[in-house]
Amino acid sequence: MSVALNLDQTANQHHATNQPCPALSPALKSRLATPLKIGTVEVHSRVLQSPLSGVTDLVFRRLVRRYAPQSMMYTEMVSAAELHHVRKLPQVMEVDPDERPISIQLFDRRPEFLAEAAKKAVAQGADTIDINMGCPVNKITKNGGGSSLLRDPDTAARIVETVSAAVPVPVTAKTRIGWSEEDINALAFARRLESAGAQMLTLHGRTRSQGYNGTADWSWIAKVKQALSIPVIANGDIFSVDAALDCLEQTQADGVMCSRGTLGYPFLVGEIDHYLKTGERRTPPTVIERLRCAQEHLIMLAEYKGKSGIRQARKHMAWYAKGFDGAAELREKLCRIESVEAGCDLLEDAITVISPESCHHSPRKTAIV
Ligand SMILES: Cc1cc2nc3c(=O)[nH]c(=O)nc-3n(C[C@H](O)[C@H](O)[C@H](O)COP(=O)(O)O)c2cc1C
Repeated sequence: MSVALNLDQTANQHHATNQPCPALSPALKSRLATPLKIGTVEVHSRVLQSPLSGVTDLVFRRLVRRYAPQSMMYTEMVSAAELHHVRKLPQVMEVDPDERPISIQLFDRRPEFLAEAAKKAVAQGADTIDINMGCPVNKITKNGGGSSLLRDPDTAARIVETVSAAVPVPVTAKTRIGWSEEDINALAFARRLESAGAQMLTLHGRTRSQGYNGTADWSWIAKVKQALSIPVIANGDIFSVDAALDCLEQTQADGVMCSRGTLGYPFLVGEIDHYLKTGERRTPPTVIERLRCAQEHLIMLAEYKGKSGIRQARKHMAWYAKGFDGAAELREKLCRIESVEAGCDLLEDAITVISPESCHHSPRKTAIV
């Protein structure tokens, strides 16, 4: 088994390509060239890595950060209720000591629990506290958390007020445009959160009923951006540099947040950030570089989480193995790996039969999950 681990080099080798990008209007371009100000926190990137439950652990964030060192990252969502009952903090709250900027995302519906959890999150090193007001999963919404807060703006506002009063760092929220097609209340809800003291709002352009289906409606993000003074971050269907630019132009948002586009592709946030900062497209990784990244991801997850890391790595490996002959067969095998060696060997075998110059990544138009 031979595994080349130095992806730092790969990051530097990604030169600009000649493909033209959609142009940003000059006023937007110069606004986006300034730091993103989240209350007292200054972030030197307009591209954020979203919280993704089961994905954005410390290992994944290390990979994303390698290509986007200045971007804001989020932990997976953390249950405030669980924190109330346990003495030892869960692994999802672990943050690298030098990991900046980082937000810890919390969910629940009880302001006092969230305030207590936020204090623990700040002690862990959180630069901001984000409240999840968008999760569509029944397990969360039936207890009044996640997107069900869209139907209870009073509680949502009280959460922001209470948590803001409890911690010295900015409190932000991430939400959707409404509960359902018939009940889109993004504007009123966003205004309410701003008045309650939220320092930034991330808006996913889907309703709760949509789940992750259909397309994100960025027009609501544009309306909310116009109405608020705090930064508004656009989220939903950002799968490429071009999509990010289109979204920024259409919404005039203060930044974009990448989500499913980063699954098996921790290069995306960096690619967009690089373009916004330099006006040049970074050459996407080759298939071989992606598979090397998959090997490294597997090794790091196993080191960090042991056996459960290997089980968790299976889905990541399958996400990386896309876009070349034999990928489907490789995915099948990767989904069953029981050891780091087995996974690395499978990936190594694939690498040896792929020609070195083979296919660069072509941006996805749709989500893989
Ligand atoms: C597997 C998965 C896990 C997610 N976990 C979270 C989470 O913990 N907190 C959160 O606010 N959103 C979570 N989301 C929602 C995403 O952050 C994002 O809002 C959504 O995927 C829309 O963006 P996209 O169309 O670019 O994927 C999750 C989405 C997926 C697919």
